[in-house]
Amino acid sequence: MSKKKVKVFAPATISNLGSGFDVIGIALEKFGDIVVAERSKEYGITFSVKTTEKNIPTGSDNNVAAYVAQLMLDEFKPNYGVKMVLHKQMPIGSGLGSSAASSVASVVAVNALLPKPLQKKDLLRFAVEGERMASRSPHADNAAPSLFGGAVLIRSYFPLDVVQLPVKNKLWWVVARPHIVIRTEDARNILPHLIDLKAAIIQWGNFGGLLAGLLEGNAKLVGKSVEDVIIEPVRKRLIPGFDEVKFAAINAGALGCSISGAGPALFAVTDSEKIGKKIAKAMEETFKKQAKLKCDTFVSKINMKGAIEI
Ligand code: HSE
Repeated sequence: MSKKKVKVFAPATISNLGSGFDVIGIALEKFGDIVVAERSKEYGITFSVKTTEKNIPTGSDNNVAAYVAQLMLDEFKPNYGVKMVLHKQMPIGSGLGSSAASSVASVVAVNALLPKPLQKKDLLRFAVEGERMASRSPHADNAAPSLFGGAVLIRSYFPLDVVQLPVKNKLWWVVARPHIVIRTEDARNILPHLIDLKAAIIQWGNFGGLLAGLLEGNAKLVGKSVEDVIIEPVRKRLIPGFDEVKFAAINAGALGCSISGAGPALFAVTDSEKIGKKIAKAMEETFKKQAKLKCDTFVSKINMKGAIEI
């Protein structure tokens, strides 16, 4: 049923999970963005941002939330406009799907206001356009898990085809986000266009192991399968202290560790919340010691709900 006013939360995400560059992501229980939207008599989007984060684009012409909302209005041409407030609760350039959380919260909110709301699956293409705007790349591995929740495989981009994985939600995901910004576009521009067959064989073996481990809830299998021999060796140069922080995570009991999305956040996997907290502490201390970087950490299971009205 369509509504006059809605408030939507869309969660942060870890994309790539090491070995699955651009084709997998999970939603997290902590962190995310909120959009409040209501129908208005003025056509188009009336947009504002409330945030304590730095360098957030606040215009209707440069913020992804406003952009994707306008795309939906252009397509569905309702006889009203939308007044939207983005409560931006995530830093940008964090590696935790900040732009995707804004886009997803926006499309879910605008959809709920439509006379005939679409199903969630029909909203992904709009959210992905927000990713294209933010980073010049329409990757879906943050937007899809933020929208649907759980662990989502991007089986194909052309056409866009996503598969929600029936995971056993038993693992704990540790996130350590150092206080630096990495623009996704920059982190993509340094990647190779061609890869070595030997590396590809290692990578797709790991990716298969990752999927099997997620389905089984097998932390050991997931941990060893997040190993990324293609992207991490290139991108880790953008993250001061990367090797030491990863070593500290493994030393503290992590079963695997890699870059979250385009970084700078790192994630680690474990089967226990208690060990997860120990890993988080070790990662935070090591970022401070090795790179003089402040860092936020949290430990989360997979958020199985994705974007929701609150
Ligand atoms: N898969 C994308 C990348 C996610 O790693 O560039 C960016 O948020």
